Amino acid sequence: MDKLKIAVVGTGSRAGAHLRTIPKLDPIYQLVGVCDIDERRAAEVAQRMNVSGYTDVETLIASASPDVLLITIPPDGHHVITEIAASHGVHVITETPIATTLPCADRMIDAADRYGVKLEVAENVWRWPRERLKRKLVDAGLIGEITHAHLWYTSGSYHGMNAIRTLVQSEAVRVIGHAKEIGECTWEVGVVEFENGVSLVYEFPTRRRGNYWEIDGTKGAILGEELQIYAGNEIETYPIQTVTTEVNGVEVVDHARVDTDPPVIWENPLKTYGLRDMDDVARGAELHSIYRAVVEGGDAEYGAINGRKDQEILIALRESARRGGEPIDLPLTEVTAHEERHHQKYREKYGVDPFDTIEAQKTILFPRRGVAWEAR
Ligand SMILES: NC(=O)c1ccc[n+]([C@@H]2O[C@H](COP(=O)([O-])OP(=O)(O)OC[C@H]3O[C@@H](n4cnc5c(N)ncnc54)[C@H](O)[C@@H]3O)[C@@H](O)[C@H]2O)c1
Repeated sequence: MDKLKIAVVGTGSRAGAHLRTIPKLDPIYQLVGVCDIDERRAAEVAQRMNVSGYTDVETLIASASPDVLLITIPPDGHHVITEIAASHGVHVITETPIATTLPCADRMIDAADRYGVKLEVAENVWRWPRERLKRKLVDAGLIGEITHAHLWYTSGSYHGMNAIRTLVQSEAVRVIGHAKEIGECTWEVGVVEFENGVSLVYEFPTRRRGNYWEIDGTKGAILGEELQIYAGNEIETYPIQTVTTEVNGVEVVDHARVDTDPPVIWENPLKTYGLRDMDDVARGAELHSIYRAVVEGGDAEYGAINGRKDQEILIALRESARRGGEPIDLPLTEVTAHEERHHQKYREKYGVDPFDTIEAQKTILFPRRGVAWEAR
């Protein structure tokens, strides 16, 4: 099996999670370097991972020759690092969201196309074992035809849109949004209509629920971690469980299941890699996806287009809220005023336009709470 050289750009908290997963994928990846514009962080993480640390992506690429770059810097800068990597023929897997605005996402997609490299989005939620199982339950017809869905998401609603799109298996065609400033934060709600007639009610944030979603069908429902099947006037309930097993002395995710008759089971295809929990499994699958795309050819499993669609729904929802609840049709055909506001904030914050040359943007330190948060 070909082993690919991988490097990680941005050594903050999300990189920490990936850097726990990458060494487990030893048969397919060799970590060759880490990079952070913050010299102290780069040095600390490099020492811990026993690789070279860099403060500049181009030097990393020139010195360590990675095949794949994993981008774990804040979303405002994803387009910058992607274009640098692509222009050097390096494949990219970027953390979520793909970008703050669709024009920035398109800049990434264009760069990958132009330079002939693969671009994957590290969307983890649909790759969690219990979400894979939920998809199997829907595909097996256990809840009948999906009619509507509910979503509450508190930590990056594009993840929630990913979960819903995966289960509804249709594309959003119309969005209505409403937003209100409450104290320090913006409360937003929305209705999303899908091409197959399913409707979604979405809310962010909520004090009563964390990240939670419900899918209703004609024969049953999936409510968070529980399957319900309607049986006459009764409701049969089945917990969705994740089962672990020991592999080489390590407790790893074996499968997810519901004990219907017969049971429905999702087997973890990566259990030999020692992935310990649901997000470890998801990160392993993300890295496998870009690996397969590079080594075997073809598209990445999720890909930039899907990552873009998750963001597009939220952008349309916020644009609709800005226009007082006017319905917005998808796909969007022009840049929204909501996105223009992000671009303006970017110019104010970083002193450069997001569509300026990469040369002019490559030394920006992108903070975690960047333009995306300020302009919400
Ligand atoms: N999929 C998930 O569940 C999940 C969870 C958390 C974060 N994320 C995503 O991961 C990414 C990173 O988030 P985080 O929480 O680790 O942020 P963070 O602020 O903890 O770390 C980001 C790091 O990037 C560095 N950086 C900034 N600009 C840089 C540049 N130009 N070149 C090199 N390094 C640069 C910073 O110095 C910092 O160390 C974001 O896109 C975020 O949305 C995804």
